[in-house]
Amino acid sequence: MTSESGETTLREAADARGFDIGAAVAATPLRNERGYRRILREQFNAVTAENAMKMGPLRPEPGVYDFADADAIVDFGTTYDMTVRGHTLVWHNQTPTWFEPWTYTDDQLRTFLRDHVHTVAGRYSGRVDAWDVVNEAVDDDGTMRETVWYDAMGEQYLDLAFEWANEVAPDADLYYNDYGADAVNEKSDAIYDLVERLLERDVPIDGVGLQLHALGDHPDPESIAKNVRRFQELGLDVQITEMDVAFHRDDPPADAAERQAEYYREIVETCLDIGVETLVVWGVTDASSWIRNFKDFGERYTGDPLLFDDRNSPKPAHAAVLDALSND
Ligand code: XIL
Repeated sequence: MTSESGETTLREAADARGFDIGAAVAATPLRNERGYRRILREQFNAVTAENAMKMGPLRPEPGVYDFADADAIVDFGTTYDMTVRGHTLVWHNQTPTWFEPWTYTDDQLRTFLRDHVHTVAGRYSGRVDAWDVVNEAVDDDGTMRETVWYDAMGEQYLDLAFEWANEVAPDADLYYNDYGADAVNEKSDAIYDLVERLLERDVPIDGVGLQLHALGDHPDPESIAKNVRRFQELGLDVQITEMDVAFHRDDPPADAAERQAEYYREIVETCLDIGVETLVVWGVTDASSWIRNFKDFGERYTGDPLLFDDRNSPKPAHAAVLDALSND
């Protein structure tokens, strides 16, 4: 798809080489802002829901699912022939406000989660191409994160979640997704061990998602490549699922926009080198970046981590990604 301005788009360059370049999308600007919709359909060939498919947003009240926002995003992706990533079926954050896990027995929690996975993954079967089935199950020190799901079922909750998703969405690729595990480090070592155990138990997992929120620290691309390769050697696909690039606000480099562009370029080149075929950025324009509103991130990091600026104009980072995708 050529842009209104007639320039080559990221999407064209990505399509030409069979690469998926995606963006996380929020339902409100998708509904209300033409410029946002235009960038999304012209520049990206993959889409994911930034929040709309999480358990909390989907389930406003006990017994009630509200699929309006998630449907709007999936419909947009389908209409414009985009790959759709589903995010996320099982997570410890953004659970519904009414959900009070201590009122359930372990067995009830297992049934609750099974029904959730069946309902959500089942609804989008055939339309969501890849699911982040489980998000962030490993803690920063490499131990299993003690979430409500882990407390109720132990590590087996991952096995079950992947099996339940596979039952209702057999054609979707099923991913384990996490942050801070992009390069080789203690956490990615632990995730490697975890997915190895899942594979030994014949759990239907297809891939690992590396979020790559490069906030302040920018993981070394060579170490990322090494990390990706070891997962690929297990027979798994690897995708970059939530990329954004920011700097420490108290000490940003003078040439931040160029440094940001350079890092995006290195990552895209690394992906192309090692057979990572999907890279999703965590937002469409800087104005909608989560960094600005999440906890104290707005004070800690520069708030312009994406490829398009607040006025919907492409940044040096956009040119760098386009260039990397266009080169052989
Ligand atoms: C973030 C969203 O971007 C925010 O809007 C929301 O307030 C919190 O969650 N890892 C993930 C994503 O897997 O779901 C998170 O998204 C960012 C970190």
